[in-house]
Amino acid sequence: MHRFHTIIEPFRIKSVEALKFTTREQRERALSDADYNVFKLRADDVLVDLLTDSGTGAMSAAQWGALIQGDESYAGSRSFYRFEKVVRDLTGFRHIIPTHQGRAAERILFHTILQPGHIVPNNNHFDTTRANIEIEEADARDLVIEEGRHPAVVHPFKGNIDLRALESLLTRDGDRVPLVMVTVTNNSGGGQPVSMENLRGVRALCDRFGKPFFLDACRFAENAWFIRQRERGYDAASPRDIAREMFALADGCTMSAKKDGLANIGGFLAMNSDAWAEQCRNLLILTEGFPTYGGLAGYDLEAIARGLEEVLDESYLKYRIRSTEYLAEKVSAAGVPIIQPAGGHAVYLDARAMLPQIEPLQYPGIALLNALYVEAGVRGVEIGTVMFGLRADGTESAGPMDLVRLAIPRRVYTQSHIDYVAEAVIYVWSMRQQLRGYRITEAPKVLRHFTASFAPLS
Ligand code: F0G
Repeated sequence: MHRFHTIIEPFRIKSVEALKFTTREQRERALSDADYNVFKLRADDVLVDLLTDSGTGAMSAAQWGALIQGDESYAGSRSFYRFEKVVRDLTGFRHIIPTHQGRAAERILFHTILQPGHIVPNNNHFDTTRANIEIEEADARDLVIEEGRHPAVVHPFKGNIDLRALESLLTRDGDRVPLVMVTVTNNSGGGQPVSMENLRGVRALCDRFGKPFFLDACRFAENAWFIRQRERGYDAASPRDIAREMFALADGCTMSAKKDGLANIGGFLAMNSDAWAEQCRNLLILTEGFPTYGGLAGYDLEAIARGLEEVLDESYLKYRIRSTEYLAEKVSAAGVPIIQPAGGHAVYLDARAMLPQIEPLQYPGIALLNALYVEAGVRGVEIGTVMFGLRADGTESAGPMDLVRLAIPRRVYTQSHIDYVAEAVIYVWSMRQQLRGYRITEAPKVLRHFTASFAPLS
C-alpha cells in the first residue's frame, strides 16, 4: 500500500469565522492607538492571532453538544461529578477543585501554603505563577537545565529541571521550600518538554527531603507526546498511559483547561493532601465559588471533561506537534533564529539574536512583535525583558531571553494560515536592520506587559 506522508488536520470544519483584512496604514494607526502594545489592539484588527494558545482553541462538535447537558445546580452538579471523574481517572489525585482558570488555581494554592521568605523551585515559572508567588513575598526560583537557557542549543528535553541545582537548594534551604513544581511543557523556556526520567528524579528528591511535588500541567498532553517520540521505552505507550505516569509521580497539580483541556475557559487544582485541600476549598468558596463549580458554569465543566479526553487522541497530538514543527522548520530554513527544537504549542523567535542593534532594555521583542503586526497582521507575544525584566524591588534588567512567541491555537488555523505566518516572519527577517527599539512611557508594577504603553525610539 502507498504510504502517504502529508499529515492532514485530523478534523473537518463545520463552522467558520470570517477574518478581517486590513491595510498596512490601518494597522499602523491601530498599533499607535494601542500605545504600541499588541495586547491593547482590538482582536478584529488582527489577521492571524498567535498571541496565545490559551482559551483560543476550537471546541469539537461533541464538546458543543455537551454544553446543553450542563447541570447548573449550585451544589452537587452532575457536570461536576462527570468532570471530577475524568480528572481523577487521568491524574489519580484525591481532591479535584475546579477553578475559573489556571492562575486561580495558582493563587489559591500559593495563598494557602506560602509564607514570606519561602522559595518555590520550578523549571521555569510562567508569568502568572511567578507573580502569584511574589505577591506572597516568596521567591520563584527558575532551575531549568543549562541547555534550556540557550535558544540555539538542541536537546530533546530542554524543559528538564536541573536536578543537581534542586538538590543543592533543598540541602541548603530546604526548610524554606514548601513544595517543588515542574511545568510541563515548559512554556517560558520555549514550550519544551520534560522527560519522565527527569520527573522521576524530582520525585526521588522530593521523597528524600519530604517535599510535595506539584506539576503545572497546562500542556500535559503535548508533553506526553514528546515523551513518546523522544524517550526510550515509550514509543509504543499510549499518550494517556504516559500522562497517567507523569501525574502518578506528583502529589498535585495546577491546571489551565484553556490549554490541553481544549476549552475556552476553566482550570483546576488537584492534590492528595487532605489538609491543604480543605484550606484551599475554603479560600475557593471565598473567591471562586462553591467547590462543585469553582467559578465555572456547569456547561464549562462538561466541555473540559470531554476536552481532556479528546486531547489525548493520537492523531490529534501527532498533527498538533507536527504543525508547530512545520512552522519552525520553514522559518529556520530561511535563517531566522528560533528556540530549537520547536516547542509543542509555539514557535519562539529569538528577537535578541535577530536584532542585535536593539539592546534588551530597548525591548527587541516588542520591536519584532510590532513589525510582524504592521507588516502582516500577525500577532504574537513578547516573552522577554518586558515580561520578566522588572524585579520585585522595582529595578529593571534584561530578561533571561528576548523571545517573540507565536503560539498556535488548537484546531483553529489550517496549513495555509501557517504558510502565511512563515512568509510574514521571513519578510520581517529580511528587513530586520531597519527595526528600532522602544521605551516604556507608562507601566504598572506587576505583570506590566499586559498594559504597558510604549513609544518607538527615533
Ligand atoms: N501556567 C502556564 C505554564 C501557563 O502557560 C499559563 C497560561 C498559566 C499557568 C496560567 O493559566 O491563563 O488559565 O490563568 N498561559 C497563557 C499563555 C496565558 O499565553 O501562555 P491561565
